Amino acid sequence: MHNDIVSVMSSYVTMKPAGRDYVCSCPFHSEKTPSCHIYTGTQSFHCFGCQTGGDVITFIRLIEHLGYMDAVRFLAQRAGIAVPEDDESENNYAKKVRIYEMNRVAARYFRDMLLAPEGKEGLDYVISRGLSPNTVRKYGIGFAPPGWHNLHYHLRSKGFTDDEMEMGALITRNNNSLYDKFRNRVIFPIISKEKNVIGFGGRAIDPNDKAKYINTDETIAFKKRENLFSFNFAKNTNENFLIVCEGYMDVISLNQAGFDNAVASLGTALTANQVNLMKNLSSIKDVVLCYDSDNAGQAATSKAINLLSAVGLQGKVLHIPDAKDPDEYIKKFGADSFRHLISKTDKMFEYEFEKLKKGVDLTSISGKIEFVKKAVDFISKINNDIDRSCLISETAKCSNQSVSSIEKLVSNKMNIIKKQEKKALDKKVVNGAVKRDPINPDSLKYPVEEKAERGIIAFLFHSPDRLSDIEQQLNPEDFPTEFNRRVYCCIREYIKNSESLSISSIGGEFTAEEVGRITDICIQGDMLPYSLPRLNEYIRTLVDFKENNSRKPVGEMSDEELLALIEEDKLKRAKKRP
Ligand code: UTP
Ligand code: MN
Repeated sequence: MHNDIVSVMSSYVTMKPAGRDYVCSCPFHSEKTPSCHIYTGTQSFHCFGCQTGGDVITFIRLIEHLGYMDAVRFLAQRAGIAVPEDDESENNYAKKVRIYEMNRVAARYFRDMLLAPEGKEGLDYVISRGLSPNTVRKYGIGFAPPGWHNLHYHLRSKGFTDDEMEMGALITRNNNSLYDKFRNRVIFPIISKEKNVIGFGGRAIDPNDKAKYINTDETIAFKKRENLFSFNFAKNTNENFLIVCEGYMDVISLNQAGFDNAVASLGTALTANQVNLMKNLSSIKDVVLCYDSDNAGQAATSKAINLLSAVGLQGKVLHIPDAKDPDEYIKKFGADSFRHLISKTDKMFEYEFEKLKKGVDLTSISGKIEFVKKAVDFISKINNDIDRSCLISETAKCSNQSVSSIEKLVSNKMNIIKKQEKKALDKKVVNGAVKRDPINPDSLKYPVEEKAERGIIAFLFHSPDRLSDIEQQLNPEDFPTEFNRRVYCCIREYIKNSESLSISSIGGEFTAEEVGRITDICIQGDMLPYSLPRLNEYIRTLVDFKENNSRKPVGEMSDEELLALIEEDKLKRAKKRP
């Protein structure tokens, strides 16, 4: 079997045999003793620590952060089946694979050149931009030396034809002469989420060069509008937001400063395709946009916000003071300061803090004491030094205390929290339960769908009259997670019986913890506009899931069946296109 779960999972984790089956340390949470079981009979896995589990497709979706059909393609490609993509013949597919191979050879060549004597100027440039050896390695940064045929002849020596090089846009044809596209430039390989080298960006090192940056032209393997620079790293981030910048250097600088969640749209305004890539990352809630503040930048920003909100992501605008771009800002003011800027994009801290202040009587002594206690609790949970010190001085001012005394209280409290957290973590690691969601345990199995379910629930609280749209396409059984399904059914009953719908009116049907979760769902939903495209996107996610689920497990499909499925999906998507 091509996609045997044992062979697929063994490229990600180390497995130990256990009878007919296997165990491994769960890749989805940290643990000391292996509690993830792989069952060869049912071709499934289950982690007894974090309750994650499912078939081989679920595994690939979770570990590679891919949507269902992308995971199918991924597995098919992995099994060596030639998978034609949209509007693509098999012939084209073979060509594309050849370009990937060639690009990989080219990337290696550029990388070697950066460290070779003829690359000295390139290396000097890279160093002058403050890039560390680690960063250079992480991004595979290289150098195309000056001259017309360096890469050209190198690729020839590796067995690639001129036609292939032209097809991959690595060489340019002018009348009848052929020459290297990238000359005397620092090279940034562009890697797709499937980890193919799809193209390159090149930064001029000669200030007199006409074009500061050039990119690979569109080829069958490189579609600018469908990819994001550094998405191959950002898709694995632990942050719950992405940062979208304009330039390669911004993204790379941000990464070096610890922001692995930065991407750049490749010299175009953000496209719907790129937004869809982001949407498939189930843990991402917000997208911070750092565009230029000129008119073009502003227009790009508002377009991007609309695209994002249509798929349920919240766009936030970052204004960068006293620097031209994130790269320059970080060099001048440091990473902490940048993180602070980001946290200020939504005024959550200030808002929460104001609320705290309003809840007490600051004119009385007992009121002041209460305020200081609450403020210290609040501030101690903030992870950023600058935010903390701002709020500390604010607290000192409001309560007539010295800054140093508040500081001391905060630091004591933080120590206590740290100790508690460590204890709790140790306990969790022992029990192997870092990621468990006790209210809706299914949420780990269906992260993408669970997000859509939450969107629909929040939508109904806001616009109950949309129930009929939803019911036309979805049955309650189409909600994959048990808890959200129960919430949906309850809301549905209330709307049908024309009873007034609010969290408190349905509260009697749920436990306190569950009501907390429902409140949370509504608060998160309220952060985005209640637009129809957004609702439709949620519905489509669940409809797709239903259709995908009614099929034979992908692991058991033959090559022909896999290809037929991909073909069917291609037609379906072609129909959906406007
Ligand atoms: P910028 O001109 O803002 O440059 O271009 P930058 O990112 O600050 O670059 P450094 O710091 O001077 O090296 C932003 C992005 O616009 C595209 C590139 O993708 C670049 O990263 N661009 C810019 C081009 O495609 N061509 C150009 O000539 C300039
Ligand atoms: Mn710059």
